[in-house]
Amino acid sequence: MQNIRQVFQDQFNHSLAALASAPGRVEVIGNHTDYNGGTVIGACIKKRLYVALRLRDDQVIRLFSQNEDERVETSVSTYSNGDLPHWTAYPLGVFDEFRMLGSIENGFDMVVSSSIPTGEGLSSSAAFEMATALAFNELLGHDLPTSALVGLSHRAENRYVGVPCGLLDQTVVGFGKTDGLIVLDASTGRHHVFQIPSDVRLFIFRTHIRHELRHSPYEQRHRECRNVLIALSKVIPGIRHLAHLHPMDITAYDIIMDDILARRARHVVEEQRRVGTFLRTLHEGDIREAGQLLNASHHSSRSLFENSSPELDFLVGQLCAIPSVHGARLSGAGWGGAAMAMTSSEFSETDASAVADAYESMFEARPGWWTTSVCEGAKVESEDFVDAN
Ligand code: GLA
Repeated sequence: MQNIRQVFQDQFNHSLAALASAPGRVEVIGNHTDYNGGTVIGACIKKRLYVALRLRDDQVIRLFSQNEDERVETSVSTYSNGDLPHWTAYPLGVFDEFRMLGSIENGFDMVVSSSIPTGEGLSSSAAFEMATALAFNELLGHDLPTSALVGLSHRAENRYVGVPCGLLDQTVVGFGKTDGLIVLDASTGRHHVFQIPSDVRLFIFRTHIRHELRHSPYEQRHRECRNVLIALSKVIPGIRHLAHLHPMDITAYDIIMDDILARRARHVVEEQRRVGTFLRTLHEGDIREAGQLLNASHHSSRSLFENSSPELDFLVGQLCAIPSVHGARLSGAGWGGAAMAMTSSEFSETDASAVADAYESMFEARPGWWTTSVCEGAKVESEDFVDAN
């Protein structure tokens, strides 16, 4: 892709004033636990999104996406009409949050350029929000801490984009550290960093099925989990988070839930336990056992939470059959998107290609795959930065 500074200059006839970037993320384990007040582990991947920004002194808003090759013009008084292309909702949602803080009244020019695939469970949306939030923070001279920008981006996703997601994506993208797994306790919003063992490699395999979380089964699962909590709070007073229940609570009370709700609840409470055990086994150096927990997580997503897909199951099945793969699972919301594998260094590119070949003969589409290091989170790029994607 062309250099983002040059693109900005060509589009708007002046230079950018701030450049910020944010990576995509992989969800390592903790599937659909975040909006249930649970713990979840994620890591930043090598693919990044860049936002170049300049504030204007009039009401005009101009956005150019290098990936879509699309330019959109709107204004401070009309941007929220809802008839703009979907990709503009992420920066406009963040802008809207800054406006609600009373921070900004004028418009802006923006270019976005990204190597993170969209709609594939790798949080291109959180990356767009966090990079936008950082760029505005920089130019408005606010000096808001990362936690505030994470909260602001999360609110933009919930309110403006309209997806009732939990805190996982924005937190991991905002706080990511090189070689660090981000362990988020979504009931408090606090996180800590856990050093990834040096002999572990992460591979990402993309199915060819993309998803959109607005008006989707994601919202339905969110509702189902809330309904379980309401039903159970009648018999277990004072419970605030589904993920904080014991699996025995589900066994004891599944009679008051219908079968579907009981399965959703079982997934959440057992997944919460797996997250804790995963951390302990990694800490003890038992990577094989940690891998088994990833497999168990996938199995639970497939059979209890029902957010997998034939493509994801196929990839995970193929990967798990290879001895150098410690474990594999779907990553993120599910229903398509991406799967991840935790492997030893013996897992080779030839092995990955063989998995892709098998997938292709099954689904007549080639899955993308790559190995990723664990990268640093969102940041403001320095003045001399030139090489965006
Ligand atoms: C999406 C959401 C996250 C989380 C995952 C599932 O990535 O954005 O908040 O709920 O799905 O664990």
